[in-house]
Amino acid sequence: MFSVPSILWLGYKNPNEMPAGCGNKFPDESQLLKPADSAGKVLFQANCASCHHPLKDAVGPALKGILTGRDFNFLYLFLTKRNKVKNDKLVQAHKKIYIFNCMEFRYLTKVEVRNLEAFIHDYAAL
Ligand code: HEC
Repeated sequence: MFSVPSILWLGYKNPNEMPAGCGNKFPDESQLLKPADSAGKVLFQANCASCHHPLKDAVGPALKGILTGRDFNFLYLFLTKRNKVKNDKLVQAHKKIYIFNCMEFRYLTKVEVRNLEAFIHDYAAL
């Protein structure tokens, strides 16, 4: 007489041959979350994409390279407490080139800015 577990294993000796969704199979790499699907991308698309292209200048400057030499604290203050970075040289230079000011996002949390920073850094590597 068969025990229950051995019935379940019949025909499925190699776990990779088991049907997807039975819980024993890991998703293949293409199903795993990529940086492009990250929380940072979602935040970026909702709040920034109307003015910033990751690679090309648009209403605002391209994000590629924009954080070079700048840390998390800069991005956090720039987005949430703009007045504190008003003496930054590149901020001043951008103000002369661009017609609009970047929007201020006082409600963004540090975790959200971290996610945005990670997304921007992904593009800086391109
Ligand atoms: C309404 C258009 C607009 C939106 C929306 C916007 N930006 Fe900007 N951003 C600009 C413009 C214009 C500049 C350049 C002038 C300035 O610095 O204010 C800029 C500048 C910047 C800079 C460069 C700071 C510097 O001067 O070096 C960063 C970083 C930035 N934006 C990030 C973001 C992020 C992240 C978001 C979304 C959370 C965002 N921006 C949303 C228009 C926008």
